[in-house]
Amino acid sequence: MKRPNRPLFYLLILIAFSVITVVFIPSFSSSSLPPDQPDIIHTSNAETSNEKYLSYLPHGNFVEQHESLRNAIRIAFETNRTIIAPSLRLGKVHGWAPFSVLAKHYEAQDKKELHRLCTAGEGSTHWRTLLEPCATLNDWTEIKWSSLFDLDELNKRHGIRVIERDGHGWGTEESALGGRIDPLDVMVVDTMTFFNNGTEWEITDEEDTASSWQALNWAQSHLNSFRNILKGSEGVSTTGKPLSRILRHNKLRAINERVLQFGSLAFALRYETSSDSRQATLRLQMSKDLFVVPNKMPVVTAASEEIVMKMGGKGAFSVLHVNLSSLVQSESRYAEDVKAKGSEAAVDDVIEKPLEEIVVENEEDLERQNDVRAVSKLALLNGLNADARKSMMESVVLQVSGDIPINQAISAALPFKPSRLLNLTNVDVMDQSVRGRSELLEACLDYKQKVDRLYPIYYLVNDLLPTPEAYPDIFGALMKMFPCTFSKSDMFQMGVINIEWTGSQTELTDNVDYEELLGPILDVLIAGSAYSFFEIPQTPLTRLIGWQR
Ligand SMILES: *[C@@H]1O[C@H](CO)[C@@H](O)[C@H](O)[C@H]1NC(C)=O
Ligand SMILES: *[C@@H]1O[C@H](CO)[C@@H](O)[C@H](O)[C@H]1NC(C)=O
Ligand SMILES: *[C@@H]1O[C@H](CO)[C@@H](O)[C@H](O)[C@H]1NC(C)=O
Ligand SMILES: *[C@@H]1O[C@H](CO)[C@@H](O)[C@H](O)[C@H]1NC(C)=O
Repeated sequence: MKRPNRPLFYLLILIAFSVITVVFIPSFSSSSLPPDQPDIIHTSNAETSNEKYLSYLPHGNFVEQHESLRNAIRIAFETNRTIIAPSLRLGKVHGWAPFSVLAKHYEAQDKKELHRLCTAGEGSTHWRTLLEPCATLNDWTEIKWSSLFDLDELNKRHGIRVIERDGHGWGTEESALGGRIDPLDVMVVDTMTFFNNGTEWEITDEEDTASSWQALNWAQSHLNSFRNILKGSEGVSTTGKPLSRILRHNKLRAINERVLQFGSLAFALRYETSSDSRQATLRLQMSKDLFVVPNKMPVVTAASEEIVMKMGGKGAFSVLHVNLSSLVQSESRYAEDVKAKGSEAAVDDVIEKPLEEIVVENEEDLERQNDVRAVSKLALLNGLNADARKSMMESVVLQVSGDIPINQAISAALPFKPSRLLNLTNVDVMDQSVRGRSELLEACLDYKQKVDRLYPIYYLVNDLLPTPEAYPDIFGALMKMFPCTFSKSDMFQMGVINIEWTGSQTELTDNVDYEELLGPILDVLIAGSAYSFFEIPQTPLTRLIGWQR
């Protein structure tokens, strides 16, 4: 299986990146280049007006990309710049990385170009396909933010202008402005990558402190494999974290270049905006009804409404998200820790390792990831022994029970009173037939309506098993405690939504499984209509769902 030439190839590519970083980035700063480029193309409007722009390099899942655009909105408002918004990437995504790596990832994800390379058989050697392998071309796609959110509202309420970028040119190659921008007109800023951008942050208030730690923890756990290798070449701190620097709002406003190109904007604290009443109003609205609910795509909204209705309507059910991969990971890590206690040699700091060793390890990591994809998702769960699985799922039940309001917890714990539900559960609580599941849902709603209005009904989302009710050894404990637990597969089975529910949306033309890729958006809408939302482990999604209710 091992191809010994690939690590070397990686190394070369990465060195190339570093060189690009060192040679290319400084050329954006105004001092180093004479204005000797005569053939600059201008868009005519932009030339006559003094319109200024900002953009950023996206990364992360839906919630992280959403946070990036929220921050861009805040900064655009502060600096009176027009946002050039990169598209929203769905499906397989990349984590945080230093500026030049994010930039390369972004440039690489041009589907047209990738399709050309992959069909021409250049898929194995080109830098683009190294970053976006042909094999995973259909695991991700890009859609416009305006297909999910009402961006006009930003302009109506606050005069904030957003242009959605076609193409993947940024900085001097800005696609949204017709490419070829004078380097003197472009300023690159990334406080997490460049030491000279911003100052070490001082803690301002408690909320910010909490979110900064959250951001750091998040970033640490998402460190892209390229990061370690690039360490040093961009002034990324040697402790393995992104730089903790902050750019003050007066500095932000003082930047005069026509195009302001940020790196990551996924962490609020890095760029300060003023705390005046205009910003406060914007902030308040953005945690209430502005750029909060992704309900502009008719098929997604319709599907969510059907499901919410079937689950008893708005506020009648609760939503539970369980990330099994993440639970399995921490469970195996725990097991390894216990094993390592005996042998000191097993404890080994990656950061101390020589470069070549890290490259090889990255290679192995990638292969391991591909294995996980190729072998079924179930294999991940089978990696744990039965006892570990059992205790893992019991802890899920404990966490859920601990989260729900006490009166609801009591309702869940009491024996059923005489009812259709009691009669059904006496028969078979894990009846998996469509008829069985429909009857159970009806009996649950009936119970809630007539017997105990606090009785919890759950809509369960998990990342590994599309039909959770078919895995009693995984979800049995949960469903015993909360028999009224349903999932999207129930909705398919009962005909509430059709497996092709995305099919009629004509703008969805990429050759991908939109049912899967739009799933997280559908889940956000459903959770927004729920009585309560709980996820294990918690992520910033909880905050986003909180804003919708
Ligand atoms: C904000 O930018 C717009 C577009 O460039 C411009 O027309 C307007 O005068 C600017 N407003 C302020 C207060 O500078
Ligand atoms: C940020 O760092 C880059 C790279 O060193 C530099 O070109 C740019 O001028 C800096 N921007 C600011 C606002 O300091
Ligand atoms: C679940 O956790 C894994 C590992 O931490 C992470 O890579 C993945 O993105 C998470 N999935 C979701 C849907 O949040
Ligand atoms: C439950 O079953 C009992 C005995 O079969 C029956 O008398 C009763 O009517 C049933 N209750 C409901 C609500 O269906």
